[in-house]
Formats: sequence, C-alpha cells, structure tokens
Amino acid sequence: MSEKDKILKLRKDIERYNYYYYVKNEPLISDTEFDKLLKELESLEEKYPALKDENSPTNKVGSSIENNKFKKVEHKKPMLSLSNTYNTQDILDFHNRVVKIIENNHIEYTIEMKLDGLSITLIYENGELIQALTRGDGVIGEDVTENILQIKSIPKYLKENISCEVRGEVVLPISEFKKLNETRIKNNEEPFANPRNAASGTLRQLDKEIVKSRNLDAYFYFLVDAEKYNITSHFESLKYIEKLGLKTTGIYKKFKISEVEKYINEFDKIRKNLDYETDGLVIKVDNINLHDILGNTTKSPRWAIAYKFPSKQATTKIKDITLQVGRTGVVTPVAELEEVELSGSMIKRASLHNFEEIERKDIKIGDTVFIEKAAEIIPQVVKVVKELRTGEEKSIEIPKNCPVCGSELIKENGLVALKCINDNCSAKLQRKIEYFVSRDAMNIDGLGSKIVEKFIEIGKLKNVDDIYNLHKYKLELISLDKMGEKSIENLLNSIENSKNQKYEKVLYALGIPFVGKFTANILAKYSQNIDNLMKMTKEELLEIENIGEKIADSIVKYFENPENIELINNLKNYGVNFALTTDNNTQNILEGKTFLATGSLKKYKRNEIRDIIENNGGKYLSAVSKNLNYLIAGEKAGSKLKKAEELGITILSEEDFEKLISQNSKTPENNIKNETPKKDEGQKTLF
Ligand code: IVH
Repeated sequence: MSEKDKILKLRKDIERYNYYYYVKNEPLISDTEFDKLLKELESLEEKYPALKDENSPTNKVGSSIENNKFKKVEHKKPMLSLSNTYNTQDILDFHNRVVKIIENNHIEYTIEMKLDGLSITLIYENGELIQALTRGDGVIGEDVTENILQIKSIPKYLKENISCEVRGEVVLPISEFKKLNETRIKNNEEPFANPRNAASGTLRQLDKEIVKSRNLDAYFYFLVDAEKYNITSHFESLKYIEKLGLKTTGIYKKFKISEVEKYINEFDKIRKNLDYETDGLVIKVDNINLHDILGNTTKSPRWAIAYKFPSKQATTKIKDITLQVGRTGVVTPVAELEEVELSGSMIKRASLHNFEEIERKDIKIGDTVFIEKAAEIIPQVVKVVKELRTGEEKSIEIPKNCPVCGSELIKENGLVALKCINDNCSAKLQRKIEYFVSRDAMNIDGLGSKIVEKFIEIGKLKNVDDIYNLHKYKLELISLDKMGEKSIENLLNSIENSKNQKYEKVLYALGIPFVGKFTANILAKYSQNIDNLMKMTKEELLEIENIGEKIADSIVKYFENPENIELINNLKNYGVNFALTTDNNTQNILEGKTFLATGSLKKYKRNEIRDIIENNGGKYLSAVSKNLNYLIAGEKAGSKLKKAEELGITILSEEDFEKLISQNSKTPENNIKNETPKKDEGQKTLF
C-alpha cells in the first residue's frame, strides 16, 4: 500500500471509529488502540506534509452531532480536546515545550483526575442556568439544557449572581451503571459497554424522564475566561467553581514537574475507590495568564496534557481457538490472540470458558474482540465487534474428541463442560502433576511444564508418584535444555523435601474433586491420617462441619477407585507423609507476628522464608503497612525498606531472623528431624 493510501485508509477508519464512539455510543476499538492509530496518522502526515488535509481527524475533535436530534448552537469559545500521553517522558517533553515558550523554568502545574464521561458546558446568566451544550464537534454543540436540568447535582441557580460559562464532564456513577445494566439484562435489552457510553447515551436521550431516572452526575474543571473574575490561577478557579455551588472532583493538587511521578502514583491509588470512571490525569499550567501565551493547536491547548492510565480494555483479533485439557479432563476453549497490551502486561491468550459461552457471545476465529481482565488477573473476551467482520471469519466447531488422546468427549449430567474421561490421557496427567507439585500442594520447585511434558513423552512419568523416581534419570534431566547440575540438584532436593510436606497439603495435592485447601485442612485435622480418612463412610464425613453432600460423595468415590489406593500406597512407600504432625516439640513462636521479606536474600528463597514463617505460626504479608511487625531486608532493598523505616517497623537481617526463630523453631531442617525420623538415624542409636 502506498503511503498516500495508508493515510487515506487511516483517516477513513478513524472517522468510522469516531462515529461509532461519539454518535452511536458503541465503540468498535479500545481507546488505546484508537490513540495508536491517531498517532500513526499524525506521524505520517508530519512525514508527508503534501498529504496534509485540514479535514483530517488529526485536526478535528471527534463529533457527536447527529442530524436534527438537538438544536445546534455555536460555542462562544471552541471546546477543545487534550493531547494524550501514556508515559512520563511525554509529560517532561510537554514541560520542556512550555518552558521554551515561556522562557521560565519555574512553572507551577495542577494535576487533576481525567473523568471518563462526556464533556458539557453550562452557561449561566445572572446566576441562572440558561443553556447547556455538549461538545459536539468542538465548534458547534447540541443544546441539551432540558436533560442537564434532570441532573440533581447541577444547580439551576448559582450561589453568586454572576454570568459565566463552566465546563465539565457528565458521568454515570459506577454503582448506577451496574444497576442500569442489571435492569437492561432483565428486560432483554443490550447492556451498555461501559459507564461512559451509558452516560452519553442517556444525556442524548429525547425523553427527559429517562434521563431523570438514570441518576447522572457531573463534575466541573474549567471556568471560561476566569480572568474576568480576577482569578489568575487554575487551582483557584476550581475553588471558585466549588464556591459557586458546582461540584469538582475535589481531587486536585498544585505541584512542580519534578513531583509528577509521585502524584501519578498517588492519584492512581485514589481513583480505585471512586464511584466514577477516570481514564487518566490532566496536567495544566496553573497560571492562567500563561494560557494565552501558550495558545492552542487546532485540536488542543498547549497548556495542558492528559496522561492516560493503562487501559482496562483492549481490542485485538482472535487468531485461533485451541483446546486445553484440565486436570479433571474438562476441555476448555482458549482464544489465541494477536498480542496486545492490557493493564501493563502483554496478552496472548484468553479463556473462553466453554462452548455455550462461545455460542452466546457468537465468537468466531478472525473476529475483533474486546478483552478485559476479570478480577484484574485473567483476561476474558467481553464482546465481539461484529461491525468489523469481513465475512472471512470461521465458526468454531464443538469438538467430539479429546484434542490430546482422541477419546470421545462427554457432557456430564446438567453441566455445560465437555470432559475427557480417559484416565490415561497424557494431558490430564500433565495437569495432575503440575497441580501436585504446586506451591500450595507438595511445593516442589523446578519441575516446570516443559520437563513434565518431556518426561511423560519418554514414558518416565506414567503417574504422579513417578516423580519420586526422577533421581534415577539424571542423564535424561541433563539432556533437557537449561537443566544445569545445580538446578537438577535443587529439583531433586525439593522432591526429597516434599516427602515431609504437611498432611493437609498432601491431601490437597491428591486433587480429590472439590477438596480445596480449606477442605483439606478440615479433613486433615479431623482424620489425623489417611488410613482413617479412607475408612470413613459418607455419613461420617457429613458429620464434619463444612463437609456437604457433594464433597462427601466425591471423597468416597475417590477412595473407591483402586487406582487411587495404589497411588496412595506408592506414595507412602516413597516416604510421603500421610499423618497430621503434632506441634508438641515446638511452639508457635511467631504466633500473632507479621513478616515481609524484601531485597535479595542470600540463604532463602521467598517461598522458603514464607514457609518457615507460616510453619512457626507467623503471618506473611504482601505489603508494608502499619500492620507489619518485621521487615526482613536483604541486599538492595528499596522502597519497601524506606517505607518500613518511615513507619518505625523493626528491620531484620537474615541472621537476625534466624536468631529469632533458632530456638524450638520449625526450619526446614528441623522439620525433617522433628516430624519423621530418618531410618538411618534410628539405626545409629542402636550402636
Ligand atoms: S480540561 C481545554 N480537565 O477529556 C481543555 N478535560 O480528552 C479542556 N476531561 O474534552 C479540557 N477530565 O471532555 C479537562 N479534568 C479534566 C478533564 C477533562 C476529563 C475530558 C474533556 C476533554 C477530554 C479530552
């Protein structure tokens, strides 16, 4: 494609995205993706000035104007947009441009929340609201006065009898957004994609009763021609807006550019507790007299810049759909995505849960989709952008056979999941082993998926207990990539140590369906050892608090399977601990105390030190706060150490920590000696 064609295509695409965003309130791509395309167009136009065009979307503010829906009114002063950045370097560049024009280094800025709603301007005459306009295309807005008057926090009369124009953002509080979508889903209406779309769709409703019922809110951040009221500081103008009886977010600070990172971090934390959506921060030159000197570009003022937070949503394409076989045989479809950044991490895959979900969301290979992180961790496909389909997309067929072993998949009674019920399926074995070695189970370090896969492939891991034979295959281990002598030794030690893992953890590691950590703890305490547990009837199990029908049935069924009994016997023969270990010899000397380790420790890995603390009754925290009693600081400890010092928390070196627990404690070595005397030690005492 020639550069000219590229430019023309980008313009056309961007205009289409703008239309869907501003007019239809139904974005086709995420804000981040949109900003990327706009930046690409800007730099191409910069490179080929001959191809510049005043009608390019790089010169215009996205327009929300639909034909004849509302009366059109020209703004007295254009309502501009803001230039966006995603990094602090761009903010420093912005500052340098300001300094160059003003010829003064000592610039003060304000920093405030960037609200994610739709912009509005209110015109008051002698204290009375006479007109409210949307931004429209920035030059001409739409008259939505009637609707604006339905917003409870916007006063019809100001507290002072003045004439002025104030600009701000109409938002739908997150709590109201959730309620609204719940009702819409109940009524079989399409839910709104996010609070911004809901706010925009609501304000541009023709029925003001609907507007009234939705409980919109509004916050203001700009007083037009503030000089008229003898105000020369933006910060002061925000105070004045509040004095007039209009709401600001109340979250704004004056600062110097050297403090910019500090405030970005501070505001990022605050915004998580707000009932309205914010998508970034706005940094503005505080001295209003400088605004005129700095002036505007066609689209945005040179005295302000927006810093955008990493977006919670991203748009990307589904390249393929693969199938993942889980530990219990459940087959989960997974979307393989074109790599995209989401909340600061690169995402390549997203779970699609099950085939009913694929059908409900009408997901096809080749589709553009919105993805989002559920509970901030696992990416999910939220929605397909059907408008971007080309006709080339491929439907996903529901598989009939397990993708790994080929056996027929079944659907268990009443459940949506497809399941592979072949006990010899290698994928199931792989997942079982990964689960068995995980931190909360046997806590075996260094047995990654690749090694497990390889050993299953060469037939050295046929069942979970074969892990305890791995020491026989040092040569095979060495031939694996990245397995040096040291890491093999660590792995084999870790396998050996796992034999002394606590009974409740071993129980959890067996992977009995519905027996998670919590249940495993209860069962371990109650049964004391595996032989007792194996003998228990369903009725006896049901007598235990927190054990219901489903769990009891699952446990009984597990022990009825001779293969499981064989596994347990094999594990016992290898020396795996299947009994509750009493704490008689030791005290919970760290009971009630909280710890955190930071920096690089010489002797312990993080999870080892954490285990020692927990085994001795202490609690391991994830952050420094006033609830922390001890910070164990290794070399190169950074901000955590600083914060702990500021809070007056006791700082321990590794040696201090060892002293603290040295008497009567349960360090890993002591654990071995206390809990399961080694055979040869026992023999020594005979002589
Ligand atoms: S100042 C002339 N401050 O973001 C500059 N805008 O992406 C006027 N916005 O059109 C804008 N929070 O709708 C400003 N604290 C804030 C803001 C804010 C949200 C919106 C506004 C603007 C858009 C630009």
